[in-house]
Amino acid sequence: MNGAGKVFLVGAGPGDPELLTVKAKRLIGTADVIVHDRLVSTEILDLVPATAALLSVGKQPKQHSVPQDEINRTLVRLARGGLTVIRLKGGDPFIFGRGSEEAIELAKAGIPFEVVPGITAAQGCAASALVPLTHRGMATSLRFVTGHCRDDEPLDFDWASLADSHTTLVIYMGFAHMAEIAARLIEHGRAPQTPVVAVSNGTRPDEKRIISDLAHIATDVLEAGMANPVAFFVGEAAGIDLAVHPSPAPHVRLVAPRLEAVNA
Ligand SMILES: C[S@@+](CC[C@H](N)C(=O)[O-])C[C@H]1O[C@@H](n2cnc3c(N)ncnc32)[C@H](O)[C@@H]1O
Repeated sequence: MNGAGKVFLVGAGPGDPELLTVKAKRLIGTADVIVHDRLVSTEILDLVPATAALLSVGKQPKQHSVPQDEINRTLVRLARGGLTVIRLKGGDPFIFGRGSEEAIELAKAGIPFEVVPGITAAQGCAASALVPLTHRGMATSLRFVTGHCRDDEPLDFDWASLADSHTTLVIYMGFAHMAEIAARLIEHGRAPQTPVVAVSNGTRPDEKRIISDLAHIATDVLEAGMANPVAFFVGEAAGIDLAVHPSPAPHVRLVAPRLEAVNA
């Protein structure tokens, strides 16, 4: 028998609390319990009222600390207890966030739920790093691509279409596979000099960026000591220089912290 509980699958955006939607912020204030991911920033968790319980189900890459089945069951159980549950996810819940899997389980269990979109990493990091995702005549389409497949299966993509020179690619979860992704794109016709911007911890005070190209990006992110989460922007639009910074190497521009870049 269901109680009067409800689950809100809420996007928390890429980290900057000012990028929360008004609705997300209001819902956080009404929660009985917040079930959150590792990617939800501490600044956003600071907004959780003292009356709400905080439950972390965060996953590190390759360390699924709480299995998805268990998260699904937890959401159902809490809602059946009559609670208002905010399932707070980094970025947008329906973009590489497994929000659809949770929604399916809630629907199957007859639990009322609502989805509240968030600013996805692509948008937040692009704005922060001044990377236009589209640009008239240069970048006429945009694709969000996962750089990591389920159970570490091989990356089995339509490489020819991803190599289209007028498409901006935003690669999520690509840190571990960037060398392979770059090689396959080049193999399928994308120029080795295609600009690539990597943004780690985008929109947060410790944001870092590298400007590189397809031929060098995999080694450059390692040399720069970048760490997850990292979003990669591949395409001519990523090479549009909207801000001017000194360059530590011909093909690399490392900028940290974020505000220096904005104010430069
Ligand atoms: C499991 S996906 C979640 C995506 C999320 N649902 C969204 O819409 O942004 C995690 C990946 O998103 C990207 N990501 C999320 N937040 C980020 C941030 N603040 N800076 C850079 N990349 C981020 C990284 O590629 C990371 O590996």
